[in-house]
Amino acid sequence: MDKNIFKIKKHILNLCKYNFLLIQKKYKKAIAEYLNVDSTQISLYWRGRVGLYCILKAMDVQPNDEVILPAFTCVVVPSAIKYLGAKPIYTAIDPTTYNIDIKKLEDKITLKTKVILAQNTFGLSSDLDPILALGKKHGIKVIEDCAHGFGGSYRERKNGTSATAAFFSSQWNKPFSTGIGGIVLCNDLVLAKKIQTVQESLESPSFKDEIMLATQIFIRKNILRPSIYWAALKVYRWASQHGFISGSSDAGELENAIMPPNYLKAGANIQAKKGLEALQHFGKNLAHRKEVATLYNNAFARLNIEPVYCSEYATHTFIKFPFLVKDQEAFLKLAQQNQIPLGDWLNSPIHPIRKNLERWDYDEGSFPLSEKIGYHILNLPTDESIPIKEAKRIILFLEKNKDELVRSWKELS
Ligand SMILES: Cc1ncc(COP(=O)(O)O)c(C=O)c1O
Repeated sequence: MDKNIFKIKKHILNLCKYNFLLIQKKYKKAIAEYLNVDSTQISLYWRGRVGLYCILKAMDVQPNDEVILPAFTCVVVPSAIKYLGAKPIYTAIDPTTYNIDIKKLEDKITLKTKVILAQNTFGLSSDLDPILALGKKHGIKVIEDCAHGFGGSYRERKNGTSATAAFFSSQWNKPFSTGIGGIVLCNDLVLAKKIQTVQESLESPSFKDEIMLATQIFIRKNILRPSIYWAALKVYRWASQHGFISGSSDAGELENAIMPPNYLKAGANIQAKKGLEALQHFGKNLAHRKEVATLYNNAFARLNIEPVYCSEYATHTFIKFPFLVKDQEAFLKLAQQNQIPLGDWLNSPIHPIRKNLERWDYDEGSFPLSEKIGYHILNLPTDESIPIKEAKRIILFLEKNKDELVRSWKELS
């Protein structure tokens, strides 16, 4: 009897595993088809940051190697570099694009530089060709941080397809969401195999991880509305800080650059399932973001405030619509009183860290422009949870506060 139960259990587990592999395979194929690459170039992760860590590891980044990154990013990026013992070297950003200032990049290159990270901030690709040319000149690999940029393009090339490798995030606020999640695309087939080997050494998400994430996705889809945004945000931050849910970061990740337990996790079944669903209507999702961003851009133009930069070399995914205010805290409070779902993203050169930045090798005061932007930036939502009617309500709120916005623009630009 016991033997039979054991056999049935084993059979069920094998079936789950088979189903798991099958759905991951389908998801990789769908991503590969979208990006017009081969599915062997794609690998899946619990979070984007884990994908970055695995690329760096497969590139053989060693202790004391240097990795250049923009001084306007998410803290998990320098953390992934530091987990390998390497050194993050911050470089200045251009305040118009929020991406690397190419004029200042070469100065940061030394004999120890192994990688340059080019970011798609808020969905706008870096101007990649000059960065790739610099990389080639100095024998340095370039990785595209496409955490914000799935679906955009650079000079007609899909984001992620131009550099040696790229990683994408499918966390809540990203172009499409699987709750949390990461994808790596590697354009060098030899390196892609190495990355695959590193990925296969990762732990698989547990049953509890899958259930927790599935519950969060359900709540977000069925309960979260712009009207309860602020209350939900409070609950979300509290619950993720206390480890009850898989938030943007575990509490420890925001305290220091020591790899937290269970960091090295591969992609989950639930992420593949949700990713496949999201990709089916991804075109509609992107079109909505662009429509909402155009409404915001037009509203700012009516106030004579320079709108968000849209380059001729890249298509923007507009995952958030940034603007600057003089008093970030006061404006957030006002937004909360009016039930306007505003974000303060990226509120520091290594968001969301505002104290002890040296723990990530960032010297306070070293990039005053990035720090200034961090203290004055806010952003408007563009995703499908914001129907056009809601976007128009947000615009009315902006127009009501036009004096503050215009004054801020004049003083800060
Ligand atoms: C610029 C940037 N890079 C990387 C990441 C990491 O992505 P993930 O949260 O999937 O690890 C983020 C997260 O928001 C980000 O903003």
